[in-house]
Amino acid sequence: MKIEESGFTTCMLRSYNEGLSKDIYAKLWKNENRDNFAKAYLNAISTEEANAHCLRNRYFLETIKERIIKGEIEVLINFGSGFSMYPFLIDKSIIHIEIDKPDVVNLKKSKVLQWQEESILPEKEIHFIGVDFSSDYEEELYSKILSISANKPSLILIEGVLFFLKREVCNKLFNFFRSIQNTNDFIGSVSFKDKTKETTAFKRLLNFINRNEGNMKASDCLSLEDHFYENLDAYKLIDKQDYYSLSKKYNNTIRLGKDLTLNEVFYLLQKE
Ligand SMILES: C[S@@+](CC[C@H](N)C(=O)[O-])C[C@H]1O[C@@H](n2cnc3c(N)ncnc32)[C@H](O)[C@@H]1O
Repeated sequence: MKIEESGFTTCMLRSYNEGLSKDIYAKLWKNENRDNFAKAYLNAISTEEANAHCLRNRYFLETIKERIIKGEIEVLINFGSGFSMYPFLIDKSIIHIEIDKPDVVNLKKSKVLQWQEESILPEKEIHFIGVDFSSDYEEELYSKILSISANKPSLILIEGVLFFLKREVCNKLFNFFRSIQNTNDFIGSVSFKDKTKETTAFKRLLNFINRNEGNMKASDCLSLEDHFYENLDAYKLIDKQDYYSLSKKYNNTIRLGKDLTLNEVFYLLQKE
C-alpha cells in the first residue's frame, strides 16, 4: 500500500457504513480495485476497521458542525486531507483549505470539478495546496494559507496522517499550526499510542502494508502518548475520544477483542 493510496481505503471503509460515518459522498471514490483492496485490508487486519474509520469521520464531522453552530469556526484546514469529503457535508459558508501531496490534491481537484459539473456534488470551492510535509514548506505555505483564511477562526484537522510521519516532521507541523492559528482556534488530531504496536492487529497492518509495496517497520510508524498533546505549547486538550468511547456514544457494537482492534485516539485541542 502506497501512502497516497491509503486515502482511498479510508473512503471505502467510510462508505461501508454510511449510517455510522454520515459520509454520503465517500462512495464516489469507489471502483472495483479500491473496493477489493479495502476488503482485503479488512480481512487481513481486522473487520473492526470499517466501523473504526466510520466513527473517526463521525466524530470530526459532528465536532466541526457543533463548533460552526457556535460561530467558533470559519475556516477548515485539512492537513493530509486525502479524499475525505467534509467540504460537502458541512455548512456552505465555511472556507476549505486542503493540503496533501501534489499528486493527491491534483487528482482530487479534477474529480471534484468533474462531479460538480455533472451535478453529482454540490458547488463548493476548495482551495487545494500540494505540499510534502517532509519538505521545507513553512514560509510559502504560511503566506498561501493566510491569503485564503484571512486570519479567520480555524479548525486544523490532521487525521490518518501522523502514523506515516517522522517525529521531527510531526513536531514541525504542530509548530507550524501554532504559527498560523489565533487564540481559541482548534486542532483535531488522530494518533496511535505506543502500546497499540503490541497488538496482533497492528502487526497484521504492517504485514499488509509490506505485502502491498510498502516498506515499514514498527519503529517507522509514529505513535504519540497523551502527554504529547497535554504538553503542547499554547494549546489545551479539550476532548479525547477513541474507538471505545465513540462506539458507546454512537451505539456501535464491537465484535472483536482489543488485540484485534486498531484503537486510534482522537484529540481536540484549543489554542490558549
Ligand atoms: C490515510 S490517508 C488519510 C486521508 C484523510 N485525512 C482522511 O482521513 O480521509 C493519509 C493521507 O496523508 C497524506 N500524507 C502522508 N504523508 C504525507 C506527507 N509527507 N506530506 C503530505 N501528505 C502526506 C497522504 O497522501 C494521504 O492522503
